[in-house]
This record gives sequence, structure tokens and C-alpha cells, in this order.
Amino acid sequence: MQERVRDLRRDFDAALAAARDASSLAALRTRWLGRKDGLLTALLRDLRDVAPAERAVAGRVVNELKQHVEGSLEAAAGALLRPGAAPSLPALEASLPGRRRQPGAPHPLAQVRARIEETFLEMGFALGEGPEIETDHYNFTALNIPPHHPARDAQDTFYVEGGLLLRTHTSPVQIRTMERQKPPIKMVAIGKVFRRDPFDATHAPMFHQVEGLVVDEGIAFSHLKGTLERFCRKVLREDVRLRLRPSYFPFVEPGAEYDVSCVFCDQGGCGRCKGSGWIELGGTGMVHPAVFEGVGIDPERYTGFAFGLGIERIAMLTLGIDDIRLFFENDHRFLGQFPG
Ligand code: DAH
Repeated sequence: MQERVRDLRRDFDAALAAARDASSLAALRTRWLGRKDGLLTALLRDLRDVAPAERAVAGRVVNELKQHVEGSLEAAAGALLRPGAAPSLPALEASLPGRRRQPGAPHPLAQVRARIEETFLEMGFALGEGPEIETDHYNFTALNIPPHHPARDAQDTFYVEGGLLLRTHTSPVQIRTMERQKPPIKMVAIGKVFRRDPFDATHAPMFHQVEGLVVDEGIAFSHLKGTLERFCRKVLREDVRLRLRPSYFPFVEPGAEYDVSCVFCDQGGCGRCKGSGWIELGGTGMVHPAVFEGVGIDPERYTGFAFGLGIERIAMLTLGIDDIRLFFENDHRFLGQFPG
């Protein structure tokens, strides 16, 4: 028995010396320690046939061999993991940079949207909603823009089948809200709008708007101005100034466009404000009586104001971005600059 063990040990050492990689080591392990046909397993089984007087010695040498085999296999496997030990294996290169996980963050537009939403919620507004695919009625007619009205030209529209269209602004949510709810109303709606515009530094065929609507007894133009000013100061800068310029939108009367003092040059005049010191934000005005009548709200009793603004515009101002296309190109070098 002792002789057999000695031969086996020699065989094992030779086989181990020849094993160069992980798979030949694994094969060696099966051949020697495998539960069914392993050489050592067989050897241990044969111990039963050894004469009782020799069994203690035989048991010891067999056990020694087993420990030798197990220990050597383990050491060899460990050595394979060390650089330079086994030329056939790729060495573990500890000086290479690790693979880093990049934690995600909401898209910069989503961040700005959340901030705008939060500001209006703090001011007591409720969130309104409407579909992105609209009817001509909600997008135009109910907003006092009948077919053939030239104001339709100002918003180049994507029409889809069945008399439907992609909404060109969020103003239709005003109508949907007033149909559903009696005054007092104080809501903002945020969402996508679509126009057949060129895709350049300041235009995109899809962008986001905020629509606001306040209706109650005794709502005056001063409420409109105060609300917009408060909002702009919260979202842009505490010392920003608001300017209203008379303008025309069919669904408000009087109507205005509103500007904020340029946050880039403090009205010294720069490229962003084209030297004027003012940056245009959106449109606003007092809800037109014809719009109230269309949804069954008595214009003698109620008054209200509405406003619209572009989220991309606010995002470009607050994040200092000068090309709207950056928002839509999904370039990680850009998006990674806004970790949230
Ligand atoms: N819907 C208009 C647009 O996209 C913006 C607008 C102007 C909204 C005046 C309003 C408003 O609520 O009162 O051009």
C-alpha cells in the first residue's frame, strides 16, 4: 500500500507541474478528488481490504497523500490569480482603473420642470392635464381662434389623421379645466407641445410649456403681474424685474408678452438679450369673455388671467445653455453636467 501511495504521489506531482491553467487544474481535481471515480476516493475505499495490523499505517499515508493533493491544488489555483505566475492566463492588472458605475440623474429639463411645478404648488396652484393629441376645437376654436383666423398661421401645426393634431401649445388645457371645474380655478399644466419649426439653436419641433389659469370673482390684472413676478423671482433670481408689453393672443384681452431683466448682463446689454437688457419669457393676459362664454362661465361675474411659458427657455436661462438642441441629443458629456 505504501508503495502504491508513493507512486500515486509521483504521478500527481507530475500532472500538477504540467497543469498550466484553470481548466487543467479543474480536470486534475476531478481526477483525484472526484467523489465517484477519483483516484483518492478509490484508494480510501481500498483501505478496507488492508490487513487490520497494517491499516493504521496505511491510513496515515493515504491521508497524508490526500492532504498533499488538496493543499497543492489549492496553492496552484491561488498562484494562477497572481500576476506573472501563469503565463497562459491574463494577469490581474491591479493598476487599471476600475469599472465605475455612473449614477443616473433626472434629465436637466425634468429637473427644471420639477422646480417650476414645486414653485407653483407652493403658490397654491393645482396641476392640470390634457392630451398631446388634440382636436382642432380645443387647440384653436375654443380659444377664440376660429378656422381661417390668421392667428393659426403663427403656430405651424402637425396635423394627424381624423381631424386631430399635435397640440401647438398647452392653452387647450385651460378649456378642458374650465369645462370640468367651476371657479375658483387656480391651475398649471406642464407638458409637451409640437410645432413644425426648424431644429436650430433656438427652435425644436417638440418642446415643453407651462400653462397657468386663475379664475374667480374679482381677479384683476394686478394679480397677474404679482403672480408672474413672484414666480420669476423664485425660479430665476430674487432681484429679477418683470416687464409686460402689449401683445395679441386671441384668447386673452388685454394680452401681453412678458420679459425678465437679463440675468446674464444685469441689463448692461449682452448677446443673450441682444443688447436690450430684457429676455422674453412668454405670453399672458386676462381671459377673453368669448372663451368664458364657450365653456359656460359667466363673464359678468368672473374674471381671470392666463399665462404660458417655455420650460426650455427657463432651463436655458437658469443652466446657462445657449443651444436648445443639447437637451435632445442625449450626449452624456452634456447630461453628466447636471447630476441633480
Ligand atoms: N399659448 C401661447 C403660445 O404658445 C402662449 C400664451 C399666451 C399662453 C398668452 C397664455 C396666454 O395662457 O394668456 O404662443
